[in-house]
Amino acid sequence: MQILLHNLTAATMSLDGPYGLIEDAAIFIEDGKIAWVGHQMDAPKNSAEPIDLEGRTVTPALIDCHTHLIYGGNRAKEFEMRLLGASYEEIARAGGGINSTVSATRNANEDELVALALPRLDALLAEGVSTIEIKSGYGLSLESELSMLRAARRLATLRPVRIKTSFLAAHAVPKEYIDRADAYIDEVCIPALAAAHEEGLVDAVDGFCEGIAFNTAQISRVFDAAHNLGLPVKLHAEQLSHMGGTQLASSRGALSADHLEYATEEDAKAMAESGTVATILPGAYYTLRETKQPPIQAFRTHGVDMAVATDANPGSSPMCSLLLAKNMACTMFKMTPEETLRGATINAARALGLTDCGTLTKGNRADLAIWNISHPSELAYRIGFNPLHSRVFNGKHIL
Ligand code: NIG
Ligand code: FE
Repeated sequence: MQILLHNLTAATMSLDGPYGLIEDAAIFIEDGKIAWVGHQMDAPKNSAEPIDLEGRTVTPALIDCHTHLIYGGNRAKEFEMRLLGASYEEIARAGGGINSTVSATRNANEDELVALALPRLDALLAEGVSTIEIKSGYGLSLESELSMLRAARRLATLRPVRIKTSFLAAHAVPKEYIDRADAYIDEVCIPALAAAHEEGLVDAVDGFCEGIAFNTAQISRVFDAAHNLGLPVKLHAEQLSHMGGTQLASSRGALSADHLEYATEEDAKAMAESGTVATILPGAYYTLRETKQPPIQAFRTHGVDMAVATDANPGSSPMCSLLLAKNMACTMFKMTPEETLRGATINAARALGLTDCGTLTKGNRADLAIWNISHPSELAYRIGFNPLHSRVFNGKHIL
């Protein structure tokens, strides 16, 4: 199976210079992989059917490296309550928040969870996304966490998409364990992790380190369990307050620390040392009307790679648009359009521990997004407009 794409601008995200841009480029794809990328006049002679992209821009397919796409119900009522003055934390402590989604998720079977997630998945794919990380964390019981992970994995059999799953039972204390967070970690979280791993359902282990969730000592025990199983870790850290999660995550060589509104310069230094990616989630900042900005300049200064993701979830970020997340990261946090494209490609791949995607590089998976734009900065600029022309997924052109 061979395809030659030509008459295009390639934003390779791998070469020197802005976006690793190559004008008048061609891309040769063979057996699901990128076999060659460069100036079209140098393109290798071969028998592949050429596809004229008429000057369109090609980027690596987008990667949404932080989502909670599988869940039951919705939290529109809490959105109203917050606008009337209640805080996210107050609602959570009163039994709403994550725990209200837990009830709705436990009430849905695996088929229903898949059916509910498909429209959200389709919205992401329509914007050129080809790899999506999906977390558990709305089951909070062994059976229900496994059901979420199975549903997440099943999506990849129903659509042309690659799914990576993160185990997030340390997301909230379920109501049957109220005031017994340590017992929940020992009796549910760690055994469920072992069971999910046994079934091959876990690519990484995540947690929520926050006053309304788990402290660093508790997350540490979950990370120990992950380590014993040989699984990488990541963490929701410093979202609503400074709890020390970023230092903990960095000390454990975490793939990423996510949110980070309350992270400090010292945290940025620790992340740089451990190569932990800073995953910026503007949808949650926006939805919660947060005012404390993540320390973007400190991440730049210390050379921390930044990813940008939707955090698609029913509570703090009911958003299924990675293009909008890119736009928000620019407008609200002054990230550059190029930083946000790195954040949704190469750095998102790093946040997932993937080395075979996120750039247009020979040998990488042929997961591409083809756009009706003339420069990649346009992908962060418009609001509510989708310029996707088509995708190439695993070497197949999907129109
Ligand atoms: O990434 N921060 C914790 N977890 C999710 C929100 C979950 C929810 O509110 O349902 C997040 O923002
Ligand atoms: Fe999240």
